[in-house]
Amino acid sequence: MQRTKILVIGSLNMDLVVHVPRVPSDGETLLGTEFHRYFGGKGANQAVAVARQGASTIMAGRVGADAFGRDQIASLQAEGIATDYLLVDEEQPSGVAFIIIDAQGNNRIMVVPGANGAVSPEDIKALEPVMAECSCVVVQLEIPLETVLAAVRAAHAQGAKVIFNPAPAQPLPLDIYRCITVITPNESEAQLLTGIAVTDLASARQAAQVLLDRGVQAVVITLGSQGAYGLTGAEEFHLPGHQVEAVDTVAAGDTFTGALAALIGEGRSLKEAVEYANAAAAIAVTRKGAQPSVPTREEVLRFLGR
Ligand code: RIB
Repeated sequence: MQRTKILVIGSLNMDLVVHVPRVPSDGETLLGTEFHRYFGGKGANQAVAVARQGASTIMAGRVGADAFGRDQIASLQAEGIATDYLLVDEEQPSGVAFIIIDAQGNNRIMVVPGANGAVSPEDIKALEPVMAECSCVVVQLEIPLETVLAAVRAAHAQGAKVIFNPAPAQPLPLDIYRCITVITPNESEAQLLTGIAVTDLASARQAAQVLLDRGVQAVVITLGSQGAYGLTGAEEFHLPGHQVEAVDTVAAGDTFTGALAALIGEGRSLKEAVEYANAAAAIAVTRKGAQPSVPTREEVLRFLGR
């Protein structure tokens, strides 16, 4: 059986975004310049990034029985994403992220997980038959760690490739690494996982080698405007970043991981997938918002001049 689908398991948030000239001090009231409500959450952002590259996409997670949750489901369905495994939690509200963006485009994010915090290992059990039909299963760390670990183990056992975006970073048990096909930390996440400060290509190589030694098949460290560094047992590469005018970096990493998963799901090489994901993320930083910033396949190919 050919596996053509991609399953994304993770968080969905409503992003409530305030643009301010600067971050207010303790006790200070400051007038903002813009307010936006965007669909966000690392899991949902990555699902949208997969779907906009043309892959058959399934999103699994939890939303609350509230307006934000209903809007999230409708929005994903409008993207063509299957929501049959998106559960409506009767106890918890939908996840929200409060995002402050200053005049320089720097962001500060506060997440209240709500229903995302209720995604359980039992929810994962129900996904095993779906995993068996998927080329890739994509996970991040915005749902409980024990659930993520159950998802990684189950996806590996079902023969799917596991694309693991360790964000927001937290230490992982050492035995999980051998179940991961591709891990996509940024510099600070790579440092938290390995203890090696990633400041240049040499330190990126050292950190990536630690992750490979733990059993991951491929490591791709995203380096912001410096692009991405890849290491497997057989190859090493650095693909420089694209020179673009960044206005909002929220969901750039999610765009990268989702686009990467879509290309790997198509059977492209790791390097081809990273080159493509690099371009997708470069486009995302030129646009405001999480999911509104994710480019389509046509936009990425045009950017790459193909
Ligand atoms: O990675 C970006 C996402 O992080 C935002 O959409 C926000 O919801 C937070 O989860």
